[in-house]
Amino acid sequence: MKTRSPEDLKFILSKDKTVGEVSTWIDELFKGSRKITNEIPTEIIDWATQIILDSYSKAVNKEKTMCLYKILHTHEVVQAAQNILQKSQNEIPNEATAYVCAFLHDIGRFPQALTGTLSDTDSKVDHGDLGAHLVAAQWPEKAEIIEAVKWHNKLFYPYNSIYAKFTRDADKLAILEYAQNMFSFFDMGPGLVSTEVLERFLDGKVVTHAHLKNRTDAYVNMLSWLFDINLEATREICISEGVFVDMLDQIKLADPESGALVENSKFLTF
Ligand SMILES: [Fe+2]
Repeated sequence: MKTRSPEDLKFILSKDKTVGEVSTWIDELFKGSRKITNEIPTEIIDWATQIILDSYSKAVNKEKTMCLYKILHTHEVVQAAQNILQKSQNEIPNEATAYVCAFLHDIGRFPQALTGTLSDTDSKVDHGDLGAHLVAAQWPEKAEIIEAVKWHNKLFYPYNSIYAKFTRDADKLAILEYAQNMFSFFDMGPGLVSTEVLERFLDGKVVTHAHLKNRTDAYVNMLSWLFDINLEATREICISEGVFVDMLDQIKLADPESGALVENSKFLTF
């Protein structure tokens, strides 16, 4: 399990920051001292930054803060992308495209924040579709990136683009790595695993967000991503970092009975 830096959390939660300070923070994360890769073109970083700052300056209440968490999440997904790329020997034809997919995957989240919620259901905005629409309006020729952004958040990906598969993996890996941190601001309290969540897991199916009633359900949801990892490299990282073991431990701690059923499931393969 990875931890977010106290400086980032302090910055996100500080009350008196200006849009200029947020802009400087984004620059530092993606162009400056904390840049992970040189592969993302400056033109694309600048375009995304404009969208992010425009939404951030107009967003209110919790959604304003959530924009900042999404920026940090984007940085974490680019890092996860790098880790996967380093392990997946030549499986991804173009690394720059893969990095851009990871960087832009949640671009739809920022305008979505202006609806007053980042729930796709409540906002009636699918943030993957919205993000794909934004990218397509700017770069209609970037079909692989548009496809990856569009499909990153869907329950299943039915087609064959390696970039869409890669982006889904990088997003999941980053969320699993930082799961503990994310729950520190989730509203959901602890609880026992809900019946339909447990049934889905024991059937070897990915648990959907609509089924989640408490934090333990959310851990089962994340463990069920085990059934939807595309690249062998991602699976190896998940296993070597112990992220699925961490999820299982949380489930057993909160609900020993369901935890034992999950642990003994024939679909648990790590
Ligand atoms: Fe997303």
